[in-house]
Amino acid sequence: MHQEYVPEDYAHRLYTDLAPWWPLISPPEEYVDEIPRLRGALGKPGRLLELGSGGGHVASHLHDYDRTLVDLSESMLAVSRDLNPDCRHVCADMRSVRLGEQFDAVLVHDAIDYLIDPEDVERMLITAAAHLDPGGVLVLAPDGIRDTFAPSTTSGGVDAPDGRGARFCEWVHEARDGENFVRVDYAFMLRHGDGYVEVVHDRHDCGLFSVSQWQQMLTDWDDVVIDSTEQAWGEGVLITARRSRQ
Ligand SMILES: C[S@@+](CC[C@H](N)C(=O)[O-])C[C@H]1O[C@@H](n2cnc3c(N)ncnc32)[C@H](O)[C@@H]1O
Repeated sequence: MHQEYVPEDYAHRLYTDLAPWWPLISPPEEYVDEIPRLRGALGKPGRLLELGSGGGHVASHLHDYDRTLVDLSESMLAVSRDLNPDCRHVCADMRSVRLGEQFDAVLVHDAIDYLIDPEDVERMLITAAAHLDPGGVLVLAPDGIRDTFAPSTTSGGVDAPDGRGARFCEWVHEARDGENFVRVDYAFMLRHGDGYVEVVHDRHDCGLFSVSQWQQMLTDWDDVVIDSTEQAWGEGVLITARRSRQ
């Protein structure tokens, strides 16, 4: 008997007990190609708030920004603290965190994929507005959009000098009509320092919205947004929105 196909709020192992493997599963070097466009969207270095900063791999390439990194997972923040000791780290939810200060830019990179419910996106947008200076920029980088979505399988992973290594297969399933999410199954093969290989299955449900849904959600944010643009971003879209100066 199979479980009903509904989105679930999994305690993702990738971001909890498997977090120490993150640098071998998705190494910082793999983000290098994205950085020039992210910099172009974020604007000149200033005060940057990243929501859902994970292991800080993107942030590690933005060292000339004054970075505050927020993530829900203490285990991922621990990875980021090792890589980015010069950043401020805060364990909190992007839907509700209030730091009581404002920034030149707010970035929500691939962590945005974990917002499935449009109401959660709205909460994140309210969070972003609460932390943006007038004229400040919000950059969102969802990995996929409904308009061009196709199921896929990818693999990756690297070795560490200490003998550990990780390999994974990411299986993105077909998205069902009318649903705002897609199911992603991961198989991780994790080689420990003593040569023991552990195999782990982890399931993630990820948000999947069309460009027009994104436009609508940003329009609903109209007390603060004055313009927003979308550009192709891999299989997804890079969204840049600016807070009104009023
Ligand atoms: C793919 S990882 C981000 C990796 C990151 N781009 C990097 O450079 O290392 C996704 C992250 O989103 C975080 N996350 C998911 N939902 C969140 C939420 N509601 N608030 C804050 N962080 C969240 C997870 O804990 C996880 O660390």
